[in-house]
Amino acid sequence: MSEPTDHYFSAEPATPEERRSIEVTLEGRRLTLTTARGVYSPDRLDPGTTVLLAGVPDPSPTGDLLDIGCGWGPISISLALRSPGARVWGVDVNRRALDLARANAAAAGADSITFCEPDEVPDDLRFATIWSNPPIHVGKAALHALLERWLPRLSDNGVAYLVVQKHLGSDSLQKWLNAQDWGLVCTRLSSAKAFRILEVRRA
Ligand SMILES: C[S@@+](CC[C@H](N)C(=O)[O-])C[C@H]1O[C@@H](n2cnc3c(N)ncnc32)[C@H](O)[C@@H]1O
Repeated sequence: MSEPTDHYFSAEPATPEERRSIEVTLEGRRLTLTTARGVYSPDRLDPGTTVLLAGVPDPSPTGDLLDIGCGWGPISISLALRSPGARVWGVDVNRRALDLARANAAAAGADSITFCEPDEVPDDLRFATIWSNPPIHVGKAALHALLERWLPRLSDNGVAYLVVQKHLGSDSLQKWLNAQDWGLVCTRLSSAKAFRILEVRRA
């Protein structure tokens, strides 16, 4: 008999929630936030997310900003703290993660974020900034579908930054993105520790 599968990208994780508090520093602020089992990186700020937040230029100060795969919320909260005049969207398929992200944004005083499932984002929105630590473990086809869904929704001057581990295929992902017919170009912004930050903008 096979074990039931439960991933950080399950819609309704089967593991008991077991909420816990962790201390993280986002945008220079020490925050006590809440995480739980069944969501991504529940014990600390993920090292890839740390590399992304330390290495990206400031997001657009206005407009709609997107965090693809928000988890318990660190990237969305950073976007909101850096650009309080913008509207931030944090999307995830994991409802437990979305609940935590809402609580964490409230704890951080970041009130310009909407955390929701992907289908709840209005179709006509275009994004001035996209930041993401994308879910590589969903598999190549699902990852590609996710990127195809969101990256072409960059506004004309919009920029996306994705952090990907080198050994999880950052270079082949960059090649794949540049082979798509979306009018976008992907370059490597930087390489730090075991990660690369990919930059995507209109060609
Ligand atoms: C690598 S984790 C990053 C989480 C969080 N942003 C962080 O930095 O800690 C990727 C997230 O993508 C979510 N995810 C997986 N498939 C998704 C999809 N199709 N649409 C939106 N989010 C998805 C997962 O549930 C997970 O929370």
